[in-house]
Amino acid sequence: MNLKGRVALVTGASRGIGRAIAMSLGEAGCDVIVNYASSEAAAREVVDLIVASGSRAKAIRADVADMAAVEGMVAEAHREFGQIHILVNNAGINRDRTFLKLTRAEWDDVIRTNLGGPFNTAHALIPSMCEAGFGRIINITSIVGQMGNYGQSNYAAAKGGIISFTKSLAREVAKKGITVNCVAPGYINTDMMKGVPDRVIEQVKTITPLGRLGEPEEIAWAVRFLADPRASYITGQVVAVNGGMYM
Ligand SMILES: NC(=O)c1ccc[n+]([C@@H]2O[C@H](COP(=O)([O-])OP(=O)(O)OC[C@H]3O[C@@H](n4cnc5c(N)ncnc54)[C@H](OP(=O)(O)O)[C@@H]3O)[C@@H](O)[C@H]2O)c1
Repeated sequence: MNLKGRVALVTGASRGIGRAIAMSLGEAGCDVIVNYASSEAAAREVVDLIVASGSRAKAIRADVADMAAVEGMVAEAHREFGQIHILVNNAGINRDRTFLKLTRAEWDDVIRTNLGGPFNTAHALIPSMCEAGFGRIINITSIVGQMGNYGQSNYAAAKGGIISFTKSLAREVAKKGITVNCVAPGYINTDMMKGVPDRVIEQVKTITPLGRLGEPEEIAWAVRFLADPRASYITGQVVAVNGGMYM
């Protein structure tokens, strides 16, 4: 229970990787704000599981791309939970299409959610973290932000942007006791993978030294490690959890 007394806000925590992160932080003793966009029942289930494990939790709906909605969520979280120590920017979407078929709307949706979301949450939370002299910000990027990928120029631009954003922010807030890091998952078994054709999944397994997709809990473990107060000398880093697919 090394996160007892801490409070975390996890975006996109109703499903997939975010759900696993929220549950893992809850299991470590952390109180958790479970953010979601539309899956209310799923978010409530995550809250119930965290409460059953002995921590406090609350589901708050907010589109991370909407600055006013994020500010409202952060104000509500501060009112109910006090100081927020850990921010996990996990919410993300994909709109995959080869570049010439990609519409401007599909580009904007992905950039607004995957890169604009972390801007909005960090902007809303950093002032209170600076005042407290402590903060842990963990941004979920992707192997695609490191390597690029066919049919994902919008997603890769957002995820690559998160890596540079993380490094710049880490330099700016280090003296305030705030660390900022990324976790870069490889191909992980979640709803996001449902649209990926079987032959691509097989190719991924072939070029992944560990020979399989990852599980959400394997990403959550890296986040929990970076959220720990003892991870105090790690900042501006990208922790890859990808089965060795990209080294
Ligand atoms: N799966 C992979 O292989 C993989 C690999 C690398 C990186 N990632 C990254 O890991 C993160 C989680 O991915 P996942 O695979 O767990 O995805 P997922 O199963 O599709 O779940 C996405 C989560 O994000 C939430 N969300 C989406 N748009 C949102 C918005 N505008 N505001 C607030 N919440 C929003 C969803 O909420 P609702 O349930 O309410 O819709 C859901 O909880 C993403 O950033 C993704 O890019 C995933």
